[in-house]
Amino acid sequence: MTATAPAPVYPSLEGSEDPFPFLNHLREHQPVYQIPDRPNIYLLTRYDDVKRALSEWSTFSNTEARSGLSGIWFGGGPEDATMINELDPPLHRPQRVLAQAPIAPGRLRSYVTLITELVDGLIDRFIDDGSTEFVSAFAHQLPLKLTMQLLGIPESDMDWIITWTSFESSGLSWMPDEFREGQKVHAQKMLSYLSDMLLERLENPGDDVISFVVQEQVGREGEFKMPQARAISAMLLAGGVITTAHFMASALLLLLQHRDQMAKVRADTSLIPRMLEECLRLQGPVLWQPRRMAVEIELHGITIPKGSHVLLMQAAANRDPAKFAEPDRFHVDRPDVMDHLGFGFGEHFCLGAPLARLESRIAFERLFARLADIRLIEPQRIEHIRSPQFRGVRSLNIEFDAAAQD
Ligand code: HEM
Repeated sequence: MTATAPAPVYPSLEGSEDPFPFLNHLREHQPVYQIPDRPNIYLLTRYDDVKRALSEWSTFSNTEARSGLSGIWFGGGPEDATMINELDPPLHRPQRVLAQAPIAPGRLRSYVTLITELVDGLIDRFIDDGSTEFVSAFAHQLPLKLTMQLLGIPESDMDWIITWTSFESSGLSWMPDEFREGQKVHAQKMLSYLSDMLLERLENPGDDVISFVVQEQVGREGEFKMPQARAISAMLLAGGVITTAHFMASALLLLLQHRDQMAKVRADTSLIPRMLEECLRLQGPVLWQPRRMAVEIELHGITIPKGSHVLLMQAAANRDPAKFAEPDRFHVDRPDVMDHLGFGFGEHFCLGAPLARLESRIAFERLFARLADIRLIEPQRIEHIRSPQFRGVRSLNIEFDAAAQD
């Protein structure tokens, strides 16, 4: 693409297969890009700009950045406008403290056995076949099952919750009308489901994350507040399922496409955490985060007016050659491997990152221990999901040998 080529509109469903050439072009030639058919939306693509915007919440605000996600999810009034990713400090902090409590380091350690059992249980189902479709058999199952178990949600509700969590997308305004209508119907169902569940856990607390949030809230704030508890539960339910699912599938695909890196990590599994961070940098499941301008600023000679929306393109920032040497190369020994923005940065840094890291580390440790010589079944056409904001592969057919010893 040359500097003068007519620009495709992005984000778009059509651009979701390979957004990187266009993002590279923007980062180099139009670091502040005003979307042609949506003049109040700007894209930032350079690492320094995206990181700055994620840090400066008083300029790049979360308030109303998602066009009222709470309202779309819950069809609700102002009392429901408490989604953690729609709040700026100081309102944001108490919500975050509550949501973080069930995944604090002490509790996280107690989830290791459960995660390992879930991982092994999923591998048991396909190991004797010598092949599987990894996305549906493993990557989507693990975070869903784990989330359901942690939140104390019965398996019988899993089917419709899958639909709800896959509808979850703050790229909603980019979706076709019928998709948004479907989302509203699911949101209503989820609203009453969560309300019933919270009241029940208030009455009969169990050893699950929802009961824990309710008890923490009552303990800290002296009373139970339904809108807040519901918003936190919704984020804990939806925030980590699709993201972690797509992440694990993309990570395996990268390893299969870079067999030297796979061999290196298999030979020294202490490299798995670094490998995962490098996968997040190159193929993270979240392409961008929205913000709303609290004030007017000028950046790279362009005025971004107060009230306009800014999409912070983490996917582009993570491949910025001004920050990362050979940015398109998958390289687990990269010295600055932790500097990617795949989990965001600053006040809203992914609250579930420790859980996602633990879950995917255990997943790859067990996959490597139990499956030898994992290969892509060829020929195979790799296709990505059609989503304006999330990235992941639709399916990944693999074959393998069962490892001699486990
Ligand atoms: C690989 C997996 C994951 C990725 C790539 C990811 C990515 C992100 C990103 C980029 C943000 C920042 C949003 C912003 O700046 O506005 C975020 C926030 C958040 N994530 Fe994750 N996430 C993942 C897994 C999880 C999990 C497992 C959970 C739940 C346990 C979770 C819960 C949340 C919550 C609650 C927030 C909002 C934090 C706040 O606004 O303070 N995420 N995530």
